[in-house]
This record gives sequence, structure tokens and C-alpha cells, in this order.
Amino acid sequence: MATVKFYGNETVPLEMHKVRIVQKLCLPPVERRLEKITEAGNNTFLLKNADVFLDMLTDSGVNAMSDQQQAAMMVADDSYAGSATYTRLENKLRDLFGMHYFLPAHQGRACEHILAKAFVSPGKVVPMNYHFTTTKAHITLQGGAVEELVTDAGLEVVSVNPFKGNMDIGKLRALIKARGADNIAFVRMESGTNLIGGQPFSLQNLADVSNVCKENGVLLVLDASLLADNLYFNKVREEHCKALSIREITRRTADLCDVIYFSARKLGCARGGGICIRDQGIYQRMRPLVPLFEGFLTYGGMSVREMEALTVGLEETMDEEMINQGPQFIAYMVDQLQERGVPLITPAGGLGCHIDAKRFVDHIPQAQYPAGALASALYIASGIRGMERGTLSEQREPDGSEIFANMELVRLAMPRRVFTLSQVKYAVDRLAWLYDNRRLIGGLSFIEEPEVLRFFYGLLKPVSDWQDKLVAKFREDLGDSL
Ligand code: F0G
Repeated sequence: MATVKFYGNETVPLEMHKVRIVQKLCLPPVERRLEKITEAGNNTFLLKNADVFLDMLTDSGVNAMSDQQQAAMMVADDSYAGSATYTRLENKLRDLFGMHYFLPAHQGRACEHILAKAFVSPGKVVPMNYHFTTTKAHITLQGGAVEELVTDAGLEVVSVNPFKGNMDIGKLRALIKARGADNIAFVRMESGTNLIGGQPFSLQNLADVSNVCKENGVLLVLDASLLADNLYFNKVREEHCKALSIREITRRTADLCDVIYFSARKLGCARGGGICIRDQGIYQRMRPLVPLFEGFLTYGGMSVREMEALTVGLEETMDEEMINQGPQFIAYMVDQLQERGVPLITPAGGLGCHIDAKRFVDHIPQAQYPAGALASALYIASGIRGMERGTLSEQREPDGSEIFANMELVRLAMPRRVFTLSQVKYAVDRLAWLYDNRRLIGGLSFIEEPEVLRFFYGLLKPVSDWQDKLVAKFREDLGDSL
């Protein structure tokens, strides 16, 4: 995005790329949308893409690739062991993060699996700024526990705090003291903290966390899946980063950590993942798991084409004009929705726009999954697929009781360089309509509830005929024969 002054009064995020490959979209009529969401058990993960107009489910694996990435895919060196493609990727990661060792994996959760298997055992604790769904599942599967130590500001939905992803250093010290450093598997910091609205941590906070880890001989692991957004926010929101390049902030971030893992479905706009490691002993502890679960050490489940695209994508991530597109489009959408009174997480973060379902549908109890209900209603009203990030995304306690999420969010992800501004405007318009008609939205209940990661494929139904009423009102106000 360029900072270009417009002659008119409007402030518009201006794209610094042009579109040369397009994909046709279709917008099914509202009655068909109701049919499709019913077939999908009111779970947006189970919708078929052909029935979706704007897919804002996630940015994962669906960011737009550049021409340079596509070109690099054509010259990939295909071999099981020791391909030149792998060497190029390894060298790029060494260059950016300054860590000598690399273990490739097929995606981010595979890295979490390896880390959890290598370091977590019953009784061990993993303190973190905030959990991610797959991270927590892997840690608890190994018998470990997650402790969330995000600062209190991180859980305030409406805020002007620029770094809501920060860890509370006092709480970290207290936890290590209470549990003993030996029982801490590792400390995990998540860039662009996903589940609390794509909120960044400051470089200063990471330095403080790193100091506590060093004092106590505890490993510091960075989840860099959303690093691009975090780097952008460090640069524009943190005084001492303003004079630094994105490359310099990247290196300073990496220098504070012992291990960096990432989902390359997000970082680097490709598909894959991997773990960068500073210390040989730590590398050797995890290495045997890669050929066992992922693939040989020089591909780890990734295709060579994706590895080539990733190498180029990582380099392109060092370009501020490239990584600011997501956050600036999101900020635009957040501003527009705020003007229309729609409740959402502020300040605008990375990854997407996060609607606050607790306030949007404050008449729906948490036991009826307000964020899930809102995601379903939004699809009916717009053909837009968002993602529930609330109680449905939690796992029940071992005794079967519900864990009510701290936040009930509908995430509307903004895959990088994918949507146009008029599509964003459409999303804003439909959300504004839905907000004005919010009393028509009702709750959901489970038809079929999986035990692990239930949000992926659980089936739900409306608690009443509220969806029919919503369709009727939509037809009356906005119905057309698309
Ligand atoms: N860590 C974070 C912070 C993530 O956001 C994700 C994935 C992962 C780890 C796991 O990576 O999908 O490659 O296995 N987030 C996706 C999302 C799924 O939609 O936010 P993965």
C-alpha cells in the first residue's frame, strides 16, 4: 500500500499490485444460501466453496501469490533428498532469522506436533501469550497444560492499546516460580495473536519475555505464522522500530528466540511450514520426528514447488509495501463498520476483521454459541463465509462441561492481496444490514459434536425458525434475483 494523498477527502488504501489472474465468483440467492448452510450443519467449515461469494474463512493457504513466486515454482528441483530447492529455502531462513538449523514440515500444526512430542509430557506447562486451537490440542494431547499470560488489555475487546498481544511479565515470573523452571516445557509467544483478534506484541515485550526465559534457563519458542502482520505493527506503532527496516525488525525478533516455527500457509504466502532452531542439541531432539511424521529432512511433506514459492514469499515479506496491504485493508473495514455502529475488536489488528458477537447478538446466551450463530446468519445475509472464534472453538473440560470462551468472535479473514475494495464495501454493507436486523438472529445447538477440534466438523441446528424469518426479511429489504 502506498501512502498517497488523494485530492478528495477520502482516505483509501491504494494497492501496489495489479491483478493478472482472476477466479470467477458466484453469489447464490438468499434462499439457496439458507439451504446450503443447513446442509453444512450451520458450520461454515462445511460449506462448499462453490456456494461461497467471498471466502473470508481464513488467510491460510489462500493468500495471493506474486508473479515471482509463480515463476520460481517452474524451476523447482524435484528430488527426495538434498534438492537445490530445499537448500535455497534453508539459506533464506538462515539469512532472515540467523538460526542455523531448519526442520521442514507440511504445515504449522505439524511443527506443533513435533514440538509437543519433543518437549511436553504429563505435568509440564507451556506458558504463552495466548493459545491457538491446534497448539493447545497438541500440548494437551501430550498431557501438558497451557497457561495464558496475555496482559489484561489483550482481553479488552474495545481498546486503543497498540500491543494487545503482549505477555504479562509479572505473571510469567510468578508462574515459573510457582511451577519451577524444570516443569516449563517452553514459553511460547505468538505473533499477531490469532484468537484475540490478530493483535501484535511489541518487540520490547518479546525482549522482556526473553530475559525472563534466559534468567530461568527456559526455552523461548516463537510462533511466527502471523509474523508479517506483527512486523508491520512493530514498525508503525513502536517508537524505537520506526527507523528500522522490516528486515532489521525481523532479525531483532529472531535474535530473542531459541526456536521459531511457522505455518507457511500464512507466512510467505505459500503452503507448508517449518521449525528454525538455534541450538544443535534442540535440533537433534526434534529431528527424528520429521522423517517419521512428515517426510525426509529436505522436504518434510512440502512439495518442491511450494518450497520455491515460500523462499520467494519470505523475501517479499521483507517489503513493507507488501505486508502493509492486509493490515491497511482491515483497518479500512474496521473504520467503516465502526461508523455503522457494528461492534468489533479494536484497535484493528492483522489477519482479519473480528466482529464481537457478544455485543452484536447480546440476546444469545454463550451456551447457544452466539459467534457460530452470527457466522451462520452472515452467510445467509451475504454469501460471505467467516469463521467462528468463540465457545465452539473451545474444547469441553474432561468432565464434559463447556468452557465459555473469553471472546465470542466472528473472524472475517482478509487473505493478502485477494479482495478488492468494492468487495470489502459489500461486506461492510451486509454486516450493517445484519446489525440493524440482529434481533432476528437466534442461537444454535449441536446435532453432532466431535470430541477434538469440534469446530471443524461439528453439526448444529438453529434453536428456532429464526433463519426462515431472517431470509424473509432479507428478501423484503434487499431481495433481488441474482
Ligand atoms: N499457529 C497459528 C498462530 C495459526 O494461526 C495457525 C493456523 C497455526 C499455528 C497452524 O498452522 O494451519 O498451517 O497447521 N491458523 C489457521 C487459521 C488455520 O485459519 O487461522 P497450520
